[in-house]
Amino acid sequence: MPDAPSDTALSARPAPARTGGELFTEARSAEVVAASFAGTSDPRLRQVLTSLVHHLHAFVKDVELTEEEWGAAIAFLTRTGQMCDDVRQEFILLSDVLGVSMLVETINHRTGGTSTESTVLGPFHMVESPPRRLGENIALDGKGTPCLVSGRVSGPGGEPLAGASVDVWQTNEDGFYDVQQPGIQPVGNLRGLFTADEEGRFWFRSVVPRFYPIPDDGPVGQLLAATGRHPNRPAHLHFIVAAPGYRPVTTHVFVADSPYLDSDAVFGVKDSLIRDVHEVDDPARAAEAGLPNPFRTLTFDLFLLRAGDAPPVAQPADAQPTLVRGAPS
Ligand code: BEZ
Ligand code: FE
Repeated sequence: MPDAPSDTALSARPAPARTGGELFTEARSAEVVAASFAGTSDPRLRQVLTSLVHHLHAFVKDVELTEEEWGAAIAFLTRTGQMCDDVRQEFILLSDVLGVSMLVETINHRTGGTSTESTVLGPFHMVESPPRRLGENIALDGKGTPCLVSGRVSGPGGEPLAGASVDVWQTNEDGFYDVQQPGIQPVGNLRGLFTADEEGRFWFRSVVPRFYPIPDDGPVGQLLAATGRHPNRPAHLHFIVAAPGYRPVTTHVFVADSPYLDSDAVFGVKDSLIRDVHEVDDPARAAEAGLPNPFRTLTFDLFLLRAGDAPPVAQPADAQPTLVRGAPS
């Protein structure tokens, strides 16, 4: 066995050649790692990675993360990835319950109070919604409380957007989308792609939406359970509304008296998107709508920004929303 090097031998050894500058220390960890990305040719990628490293290192130092906790986090993320397939995206669900999906959505679709606010798309949109005629009934399974849904699509100046496309989808009264219950619900149940009339109006028959839980049988559900959070979303109807020359909006209308309005598992509720559902007890109106008497009505008018208009800037942290219950100020 060779002799251990003497102190003299160690101090006499030349310093190893260094190519990356500063070595890693606890105090300067973020700067050292961020510097390794300095040669990134895409400036946006460099900016994002540099900021990510600074925030990640600050977080690890803030909580003084233990090795066990780091291992548990890696195992959690591994299980999250393993849960993903063509129909289940557990990482998006994780982003949803951490409020990141809503933050990205909100930053990228600022309205400045002049148009309908957006909210999360969610995982249950069908790329090819079934085209339907105005007035058609989208409740193919005949279950639920009948409801006439109507509204008008307008530009920022109130101009009607004739021919706007209105893509809608919602759960059935058991709280499931059709794609979650193949063979139980008819294909295309509670979905439809409508075309607004000459005055930008749309209307269709459906049922009153109901609150429901997001998929909670995976790691995200375990996270919610471990933190005492429920998995529910308040009752809502999804919309994607688009018209040539205008910015499309992806949003929901929420039912005013629904449970969980103030604790949506994915933070999707905005005050301007909440509407009352009214009961109508009038046989003549019911006959006109093609619904049994009594029935419910839900009205949701939408306003789109012009495509060419500059996106509104961020609101100051203490600013109050100016668009309340759909009326542009
Ligand atoms: C939804 O509203 O369909 C939804 C949104 C986020 C996560 C899960 C479901
Ligand atoms: Fe939904």
